[in-house]
Amino acid sequence: MRLSDCHNIEDFRRLAKARLPFPVFDYIDGAADDELTKARNTTAYDAVDLVPDVLAGVEEIDTRCTILGRTSALPLMLSPTAVQRAFHWQGETAVAKAAEKYGLWFGISSLATRSIEEIAALTSGPKMFQLYVHKDKGLNAHMIERCQAAKFDGLALTVDTIVSGKRERCLRSGFTTPPRFTPASIWSYATRPKWTLDYVLRETFRLPNLDTHVSEGSSQAVSIADYFNTMLDTSMDWSTAEGIREQWGGTFVLKGVMSVADARRAVEIGADGIMISNHGGRQLDGSRAPFDQLEEIVDAVGGEIEIICDGGVKRGTHALKALCKGAQAASGGRLYLYALAAAGQEGVERALGLLKDEIERAMRLMGVSRVDQLNRNRLRRR
Ligand code: LAC
Repeated sequence: MRLSDCHNIEDFRRLAKARLPFPVFDYIDGAADDELTKARNTTAYDAVDLVPDVLAGVEEIDTRCTILGRTSALPLMLSPTAVQRAFHWQGETAVAKAAEKYGLWFGISSLATRSIEEIAALTSGPKMFQLYVHKDKGLNAHMIERCQAAKFDGLALTVDTIVSGKRERCLRSGFTTPPRFTPASIWSYATRPKWTLDYVLRETFRLPNLDTHVSEGSSQAVSIADYFNTMLDTSMDWSTAEGIREQWGGTFVLKGVMSVADARRAVEIGADGIMISNHGGRQLDGSRAPFDQLEEIVDAVGGEIEIICDGGVKRGTHALKALCKGAQAASGGRLYLYALAAAGQEGVERALGLLKDEIERAMRLMGVSRVDQLNRNRLRRR
């Protein structure tokens, strides 16, 4: 299988699986417990059907929209995800460049393998920083100051990782950051020499937004679960979130809101947006799908705050369905991560090109020429 054989996100997943050592692939692909929520994030989209209009004159269509004050070429965002250098040697650089080429928002994690400054120098496109609140308050303040100096367009505070979800595939594979070869996995690394040589011979794996303050994850290998459980601030609450918004002073998003009450509180503390998200099913298994939760949140706070529906997105029609229910945009991590892992920047560009084509095609087939023409009347629950 080659990159040119990839025609949808599932194809990139298969290619990534063939090219990556299993601990790395399973870190991307895996989720918490029984992985029910991860599956549900996608199947939720299948429970509603689009109702097209015909003869609508859709030769010219405009897929653009405004997300968090910046123009986006599509109603789609690339959610921030961690440790991308572990997936492909080009890491976050590949995603930043592909996002700029396609005119889309993307984000880097606090656990990124490229620095805030490197990413800012690479692209003038809209970019957000995903903040994990650490116990080390000096580290939190330092990351925020660096984002201010580098003129990031948004700060997304992660609110759903107070402790790590139980990622059983990672428990079995022993995946760490940085990745380490173990007796149980060495064969898998040996039989993926391209990944392994890129990992060993190219630039050293680092977490440059954290290694000013902590060695865990950079020079000291730890599992992501151990990192979350020992380094992050379990006492974080609404006043913490408000304090971070004030310190940051720019566009502020809560990533991982699921309930109407929390969406309301996000409005009250002055957040500009929420990403309805269950962290790709990687945290609380049995949690509801963001798409299923979207309607009641839109009914409660729509118009007062921007609402992004995160997770499970594999098709252009998924973004259209989220818009029909009142989201500003849909977003996802794996939607570009499999492609990154499989083929670096070229892979991400191909994935985004496919999603762009799917969104354009589906808009024409729906008989809409602008994204604001999508509304609830165009959806039916089966
Ligand atoms: C994860 C974090 C790092 O889900 O976002 O693994």
